[in-house]
Amino acid sequence: MGIFIKEQEQYLQKKLHDCGYDVEEVTLNISSRPEFGDYQYNGIMSLAKKYHKNPREIAEELLILLKKDDLYKDVNMAGPGFINITFSDEQLVKHMNELLQNIEINYTGIEPKKIFFDYGGANVAKALHVGHLRSANIGEALKRLCKSLGCNVMADAHLGDWGRPIGLVMLEIKKRKPSLPYFDTSFIGEYPEESPVTNADLMEIYPIASEKAKNDEIYMEEAREITAQFQNGDKGLTALWNQIMKVSKTDIKRIYDKLNTTFEIWEGESDGNRYVPELIEYLEEKNLIKESQGARIIEVQKADDDHEIPPLLLVKSNNSTSYETTDLACIWERMKLHNPDEIWYLTDSRQALHFEQTFRAARVSEIVKPETKLEFIPFGTMNGKDGKPFKTRDGGVMTLESLLTLAEEECEKKILPNITGEERKKVADQVSLAAVKYADLIPYRLTNYVFDPVKFSDLQGKTGPYLLYSTIRMKSLLKKATESVVEFKKITTIANEYDRAIMIGLLNINNVLMKSYKTKSLNEIAEHLYKITNLFNNFYSQNRILTEENAKVKESWLCLSRIVYENNLKLLNILGIDVPDRM
Ligand code: ARG
Repeated sequence: MGIFIKEQEQYLQKKLHDCGYDVEEVTLNISSRPEFGDYQYNGIMSLAKKYHKNPREIAEELLILLKKDDLYKDVNMAGPGFINITFSDEQLVKHMNELLQNIEINYTGIEPKKIFFDYGGANVAKALHVGHLRSANIGEALKRLCKSLGCNVMADAHLGDWGRPIGLVMLEIKKRKPSLPYFDTSFIGEYPEESPVTNADLMEIYPIASEKAKNDEIYMEEAREITAQFQNGDKGLTALWNQIMKVSKTDIKRIYDKLNTTFEIWEGESDGNRYVPELIEYLEEKNLIKESQGARIIEVQKADDDHEIPPLLLVKSNNSTSYETTDLACIWERMKLHNPDEIWYLTDSRQALHFEQTFRAARVSEIVKPETKLEFIPFGTMNGKDGKPFKTRDGGVMTLESLLTLAEEECEKKILPNITGEERKKVADQVSLAAVKYADLIPYRLTNYVFDPVKFSDLQGKTGPYLLYSTIRMKSLLKKATESVVEFKKITTIANEYDRAIMIGLLNINNVLMKSYKTKSLNEIAEHLYKITNLFNNFYSQNRILTEENAKVKESWLCLSRIVYENNLKLLNILGIDVPDRM
């Protein structure tokens, strides 16, 4: 029992070897022209170059051996030497029964590693925005994919709780309520138990403070000061920060929950920062810190760079630390506490330089082992219809929650009228999350796309709701079959082109998983789900499954439906999409 296509590839490799040709790897691709065969081998041409031979000649030699073995229903050559293979019914049936026993058999193919994920990054006291949606969707799905392939995975929410934004918020609170004890350096005694601000206050305060700082240099300077004062351990500001953290974290957790996004570790930039003193001591010992205009920096430029990489600013002249310092300290912490083989970071491409500097500093200082991989995994932006980053109607930044609401409103209209009350609310949440996640994951990771809630919530087409609707239909078919006491245990026959096409599609799962893993993009999985679901719907409309009179055919069809259903559940789960009971 193994990965069917892998076994076929190994078999072909052996046959080529028997013909006198050595190939490192044989890859079989699902055929784009099914009329020629199920799968295709396109490697003969490069083999011909290597052996200075006519590709058709090599193909002929291979065909003779393959035909002798008579494993396939058909094998032929097309064009300059493409090999087309059509599998036999016995081969397909055998593998389908293996899948029926254990849908997991295709979930292997990489060396299991320990991977640490960083795809949260919501900022305390600030609303989550669309960028956080993409990192959460892609990151969570990649984590689930790696886990399903046998990796040991963990993710840290890595809240933005340390930099200037938090200073800005504290400054604005100070301006509004200067008499609060947090700002009184001579205050002794207990700080109040109640938070001086609610989450709604914070949502209102940050944009105002940030706008003021942009237009008013004095205000900005005050913000820098209060940030440095806080970072250097001011007691009152730390107490205020704790209150802000409590209020904001509760809300951030609520939103990540809504997004089906989970973190094993709920730390923030501040947690990494606890390691800054020992990190600096270490860097000093390594002689890597330089003084520059009152600040302390690490040079990261390399001799063979073709563009300038500015030094990493470790400690500013006012003794505050930078975003880079925080990330470097976090790598230090993560290596010390978890020692992962790889760390995967997800943010949009605008943070490329930041990660380049940080990773370089981690390498020159040997904070990570040479074999530890640090991966920056950027993604494209979600745009509005005008092709620019998605905005509210009045041109403001769209918060993640208002974006979800837009999708919810659309999806709500599509749900059955007899679903009411609490269930209706829950189903609308699930369907809209499916709409948003699927639309977010189907483009290649680096591609920008346009947010279109009407299109995303359509029950037809490449959408999350279409997949949910179809998967629910599979489930109810299986339920009805079980209720009418049909036992279905084994596939014994292939009845027509419709069930056969599903089987050929299912053979491709491992390839799809591997491609998604290698490119760190979920588009292959999302496409595969659509393809299989479509094939299933075709099959379902062309055949009367429950009333089929031939018992063997009926049993085979029900078994196949179960495989598709389970496969859909598994892949939807990787994408972070839950399936409601009805919709
Ligand atoms: N808080 C950052 C932001 O909102 C994202 C953090 C990403 N992770 C990291 N380790 N820097 O842009």
